[in-house]
Amino acid sequence: MNKTYTDLNPSPRLLLGPGPSMVHPRVLRTMATPLVGHLDPDFLAILSDVKDLLRFVFQTENELTLAVPGTGTAAMEAALSNLIEPSDRLLACIHGYFGERLAEMADRYGAQTKRLQRPWGEVFDPDEIDLALSTFPAKIVTLVHAETSTGALQPDIDVISEICHRRSALLVLDCVTSLGGMPVEIDSWDVDIAFSASQKALSAPPGLAPITINPRAREVITKRSSPPPAFFLDLLLLERYWSDQPIYHHTAPISTTYALREALRLVYEEGLPARFRRHRAVAENLWQGLEALSLPLFVPQEIRLTTLATPQLHQGIDDANLRQRLLEIYNIEIAGGFGPLAGKIWRIGLMGYSSRVENVRLLLAALEDLLGE
Ligand SMILES: Cc1ncc(COP(=O)(O)O)c(C=O)c1O
Repeated sequence: MNKTYTDLNPSPRLLLGPGPSMVHPRVLRTMATPLVGHLDPDFLAILSDVKDLLRFVFQTENELTLAVPGTGTAAMEAALSNLIEPSDRLLACIHGYFGERLAEMADRYGAQTKRLQRPWGEVFDPDEIDLALSTFPAKIVTLVHAETSTGALQPDIDVISEICHRRSALLVLDCVTSLGGMPVEIDSWDVDIAFSASQKALSAPPGLAPITINPRAREVITKRSSPPPAFFLDLLLLERYWSDQPIYHHTAPISTTYALREALRLVYEEGLPARFRRHRAVAENLWQGLEALSLPLFVPQEIRLTTLATPQLHQGIDDANLRQRLLEIYNIEIAGGFGPLAGKIWRIGLMGYSSRVENVRLLLAALEDLLGE
């Protein structure tokens, strides 16, 4: 073999897609911190900080709160594989791609899955979920808080959770694109399991997936007739590993954990209300600019994410070509729509460290230039 491998030198992209988002320099620097062993007392203190900070950002007191090694899909898989026992009934509320992913996973774990569908871009009225549960009593309801395929935010989570509990179901909420950018109030909404990912509004690199499990859901997991099928994602084993007296389960991704801790520390320093206000103000800036470029938003303002904007493309825009030129000429990444929204919308993420007015200005100027060509 006589090939030469050059130094790693990827293009200096501005990440304004649906994730990963830009990572704060403080987080990048933290990743260069020398490693300690994953059972070192210093590392256990770091895990303990991560747990505390995750409780802060999820707004919960849940004891069982940690970060699963892997991306958001790993936490999704942890939630479902720990709750579902074969033939359990699960109501999957689907208003976009990720709602369907939850349903597909439930099928794979042997649940009897019923799909409650809404057109992409719409959200559920809690009464619809109540009606569905009245004819299909389910053990678990899955719902996506921030649907990254459409840009829609599901409101009324507290009402939906009350309905689920009245109907003896547990609510599993996907907060991948909301946590750290928009209010996620796990305890006051009484959500049973919620999960997210490190690389969206928390602005850490991908590789860890926050998850929180309330005592009600934990009890259901402890009463399973057999252990969950995936050893790696067994939440009770993970809980022991993340305890003060850890029992080896896997080798934690040390540098990624450093990064998540630093990213969460940044959230803590900014404060949640200020962080949510920043995301909204920057998003509003983008919305106005997009409208001015005749790119109206796909989702009505009342249910619009502030972490991810989805402008509609007018006829005449060559979607793939324009995004490619945006990347090549301006080093800016945004994403296209997919499924029924392919070629119809773009997905522009303003999450965490990406959510800054200067990024909006840069993107709008670049779009104006390319659209004018
Ligand atoms: C709403 C939602 N759920 C789940 C996922 C899966 O997360 P990951 O790609 O980190 O596995 C994503 C990823 O974009 C998402 O947006």
